[in-house]
Amino acid sequence: KKRIVSGVQPTGSIHLGNYLGAIRNWISLQNTYDTLFFIVDLHAITLPYDAQQLSKATRDTSALYLACGVDPSKASVFVQSHVRAHVELMWLLSSVAPVGWLNRMIQFKEKSLKAGDENVGVALLTYPVLMASDILLYQSDFVPVGEDQKQHLELTRELAERVNNLFGGRKWKKLGGRGGALFKVPEPLIPPVGARVMSLTDGLSKMSKSAPSDQSRINLLDPKDVIANKIKRCKTDSFPGMEFDNPERPECNNLLSIYQLISGKTKEEVAQACQDMNWGTFKSLLADALIDHLHPIQVRYEEIISDSAYLDGILVEGATKASDIADTTLNNVYQAMGFLQR
Ligand code: TYM
Repeated sequence: KKRIVSGVQPTGSIHLGNYLGAIRNWISLQNTYDTLFFIVDLHAITLPYDAQQLSKATRDTSALYLACGVDPSKASVFVQSHVRAHVELMWLLSSVAPVGWLNRMIQFKEKSLKAGDENVGVALLTYPVLMASDILLYQSDFVPVGEDQKQHLELTRELAERVNNLFGGRKWKKLGGRGGALFKVPEPLIPPVGARVMSLTDGLSKMSKSAPSDQSRINLLDPKDVIANKIKRCKTDSFPGMEFDNPERPECNNLLSIYQLISGKTKEEVAQACQDMNWGTFKSLLADALIDHLHPIQVRYEEIISDSAYLDGILVEGATKASDIADTTLNNVYQAMGFLQR
């Protein structure tokens, strides 16, 4: 079976972008692939964060995975920091990851520009190396993510090839190893629609956890009236009717795409059904569809989060399975890099 891994940061609440760009796509994949889904708590400390909130956010996020349909009888669900190999492999990888590659990462540039050099931790720069470690440890074939992670995936692939060339093959064999590639080179799986869900208040910037205004996103756990209110107040324009793909109407395109994904209709069906609607009519259609779609997820979430023994059991089992796979890769890398075996 081919293998798939992916993860979400436990910062703030999970929003519609995380759901439509990533989590929702995990659900259909778990039937066909060997899947591991983690909560990347180690990534959540790369910007200033609240230590009092981290463990709660991590549990909440794991419960949301399950509520969205991740099935622990099929997929391994675990917390990144519970599998120590992630940080260990990261150190090894960081010895061959050129600083130049990391400096070019758009997310680093954006986030460090905002905070200023003296306030940015080294981990913000080396973050993609940890992400590469998350993926390469499991010899993953595919990584389902949104558009904003594409560049990090590209770096992961280049890093895998670099390590394979530097330490794999005959050189590894000489050191007593199996030979061949140390890492599988993974491919991103980016959905055709939903890979970049935009902000409700600005159709040109992406929906994000870190945007200051909560009005800019729909969180999966937002109550009905909050969802209705956010949609009612989101940015509109003064063109007649509703249409996809008009570059002058990014907000319109974004909301139609969200509706398309949530309703399960095709783009043509949505375009047809909505072309003569005004903003008011369309917004109430969208709000109702969102509320109906998220309601069962919210109900399941409440059940899961209130049964802490069940949730903890799943996370323990997930971490045990993941550690088995991860340790094998890690030991191979230690061997190929020439370390004295324990
Ligand atoms: P994070 O936590 O920022 O986002 C989690 C997932 O949601 C996707 N996403 C979006 N998709 C569509 N529209 C949006 N507006 C939107 N915002 C976020 C992201 O692309 C991502 O798939 N570095 C990663 C987490 C990570 C990871 C990994 C992922 C760490 N290690 C290994 C895959 C494999 C991140 O910060 O995602």
